[in-house]
Amino acid sequence: MNLLFIIDPPDSLKAYKDTTVSMMRAAQSRGHAVHVCGQSGLAWHDGSVGAQATRLRMTDNDEDWYRGDGHAQRSLASFDAVLMRKDPPFDLEYVTSTWLLSAAVREGARVFNAPDAIRDHNEKLAIAEFPRFVAPTLVAREPQRLHAFIDAQRDVVLKRLDVMGGENIFRVRADDPNRNVIVELMAQGGARSVMAQRYLPEIRDGDKRILLIDGKPVPHCLARIPKAGESRGNLAAGGTGVAQPLSRRDREIAEVLGPQLAARGLLLVGLDVIGDFLTEVNVTSPTCFREIQDQTGFDVAGMFVQALEAKVKA
Ligand SMILES: Nc1ncnc2c1ncn2[C@@H]1O[C@H](COP(=O)(O)OP(=O)(O)O)[C@@H](O)[C@H]1O
Ligand SMILES: [Mg+2]
Repeated sequence: MNLLFIIDPPDSLKAYKDTTVSMMRAAQSRGHAVHVCGQSGLAWHDGSVGAQATRLRMTDNDEDWYRGDGHAQRSLASFDAVLMRKDPPFDLEYVTSTWLLSAAVREGARVFNAPDAIRDHNEKLAIAEFPRFVAPTLVAREPQRLHAFIDAQRDVVLKRLDVMGGENIFRVRADDPNRNVIVELMAQGGARSVMAQRYLPEIRDGDKRILLIDGKPVPHCLARIPKAGESRGNLAAGGTGVAQPLSRRDREIAEVLGPQLAARGLLLVGLDVIGDFLTEVNVTSPTCFREIQDQTGFDVAGMFVQALEAKVKA
């Protein structure tokens, strides 16, 4: 197959831990041709969505992991599959790229994850579809509602809906002397929606990343354990990733969400689960392949490329 990966600049990817690099290596070793383009290389011209694509050949050396091998301007529909692996921010340019990708789908391109579904899923608010797995949670703009929730729950986490990597996550207790200022800053005086969620002490055992590939769970998740003195488990916030088998509850969540999400064209999803509760449904550019693969020997990238092959054949 000819595969096009839409990525951040290749030199910005850290090959020793990058999920997209693992995917590209697995694709090459299964005989596929890998091409890449940046978000800025996407364009709609003369009625068709195209990209300035560079053919890449991967090496096994993490320090020097690719060779460029020619450029070509091609329509997205001319590839066997297009993989949107650009990292957020999920800003208006990101949304614009999904509009272009939706246009490409109308021209016959196969794009994963499906651009319409990416656009429809806010990674935090998506839990609202699965309330049986969700800890007490409020999404609101009005500061008085947020305060009432803090009064009722006593110990909560406040999150912005439009950032990731542990950015702008506040733990607030009812008696926190700064709570008024935190609510003011987060909700911008009622102009911005905020998620307030009961604080889950099980975070000490990690924020579990469960990967779903075409709706099927990878058998090991990655528990991201916050570093000492930190309340956020994100690897970007210094958390340590420990691979572990899925618990019964993890499997239950995966089995309910998997088929529904896969049916929307979400080939790769990263669920975040703290204790027994679903906290996020990540669809933009889920990661953790390398950590799980290195610690368990399970070939996550191979599973992904096989699932992609099956989709393209179908
Ligand atoms: N309800 C919660 N209870 C305890 N900690 C939480 C809760 N929600 C989030 N956190 C902490 O914040 C981190 C990031 O939260 P998350 O909702 O996954 O947002 P993002 O990863 O997009 O920044 C988690 O790894 C966890 O440490
Ligand atoms: Mg998260």
